Amino acid sequence: MSTHNILLLGSGGRESALAWKLRQSSFCNELFIAPGNAGTQQFGKNIQMSTTDFDSMEKFCLDKNISILFPGSEDALVAGVYDYFQSKSSLHHIIVAGPSQAGAQLEGSKAFAKKFMMRHNIPTADYQEFDENNFEAGLAYLDNQPLPIVIKADGLAAGKGVVIAQSHEEAKVSFVNMIKEAQFGDAGKKVVVESFLSGIELSVFVLSDGEHYVLLPEAKDYKRIYEGDEGPNTGGMGAISPVPFANENFMLKVKTQIIEPTIKGLKEEALTYQGFIFFGLINVKGDPFVIEYNCRMGDPETEVVIPRLENDLVELILAMKKQELHQHTIIHKKETACTVMLVSAGYPDTYEKGFEISGLNAVNNSLIFHAGTTEKENKIMTNGGRVLAVTSYGKDLKEALNQSYENALQIHFQGKYFRNDIGYEFQ
Ligand code: AMP
Ligand code: GLY
Repeated sequence: MSTHNILLLGSGGRESALAWKLRQSSFCNELFIAPGNAGTQQFGKNIQMSTTDFDSMEKFCLDKNISILFPGSEDALVAGVYDYFQSKSSLHHIIVAGPSQAGAQLEGSKAFAKKFMMRHNIPTADYQEFDENNFEAGLAYLDNQPLPIVIKADGLAAGKGVVIAQSHEEAKVSFVNMIKEAQFGDAGKKVVVESFLSGIELSVFVLSDGEHYVLLPEAKDYKRIYEGDEGPNTGGMGAISPVPFANENFMLKVKTQIIEPTIKGLKEEALTYQGFIFFGLINVKGDPFVIEYNCRMGDPETEVVIPRLENDLVELILAMKKQELHQHTIIHKKETACTVMLVSAGYPDTYEKGFEISGLNAVNNSLIFHAGTTEKENKIMTNGGRVLAVTSYGKDLKEALNQSYENALQIHFQGKYFRNDIGYEFQ
């Protein structure tokens, strides 16, 4: 059996969970993580390299005989890492686990994603697209829409480019800020205005080989900073899997109305896509609608989805490359998994870094996936807003959560904060 040297890109809790899983594969020889964190070095070797520095990546891949490049986050994919590797004869043989730049537009441009969904009849909120050229028409349009109304910057805006306006005034202020004041730079000079959908959200993940797909366990993340889903959006404060309302009937609709038309649409439009598709969905009275696409796995969803996956992840990536995913069946643990994020005081706004983390050795029966951590003089220090993900299994959600919360209390760093109500709707 041939084994592979793998380069994983990223430094979050998602990449820690992926590194943990890749390390367990019988197809994995050496594992490198760029740039990684204090946790990823348990599973491989951290490399100081930016995830969008393709020249350095090229040199490194050739030097270390890398045969699989695994982008954890979207930045490299949206910047065209797949196309870069395809364009060089020396890199051509390397499997990139992610779409081409054209395919990554599903995440990189909200206007592109909306048009794609319209073309393929995929359920999503009604919308209009505006920029400098139809700015006045946009203001008039906003005045005539029912409230709340959703304003989205077209491009990547680090999860901050979405405003749910409760008044026409607020809607217009956001609209002006995005288009005229370039609040999100070029990413927001084009704007999608869409109707508000009311329901409960969930995240669904597939790995597609361009023809077939395998469905991974679904998850729900908790985006707001405060309990009861209050306060500003974060990268995610916790997650659970499975999601109780994602029953067979609901998932059948997700497959036939959303996943399959998406994969077929990508193929028909020759948008080269072999990689993960993350469907951010909302359940509106039993029917799924797409809120957003992402071209990679979610964070913190990966910290519950990957621990539930029994298949060998590298084997799936190899099957993806050969377009043989239909020959694989996903096996997942029946247990529930949850993850609770321990974050720095002040996150998602300003926060301090550089506090020592203690108590990691006292953790029992949970998986700790490092996110914003670094090692200095043999000490583990905080190095970001989201610091650690505490993942546990349980026979039910309550048992999994109890385990994570027990261990969350064993870990200490100055300013530690976490939400005590992950999974609250389902208990
Ligand atoms: P997005 O970046 O598109 O995922 O949007 C961020 C968050 O805003 C989503 O996770 C939803 O909670 C919310 N959101 C976005 N679009 C809508 C919509 N059309 N209706 C209701 N909520 C929305
Ligand atoms: N948890 C949402 C995301 O990864 O975008």
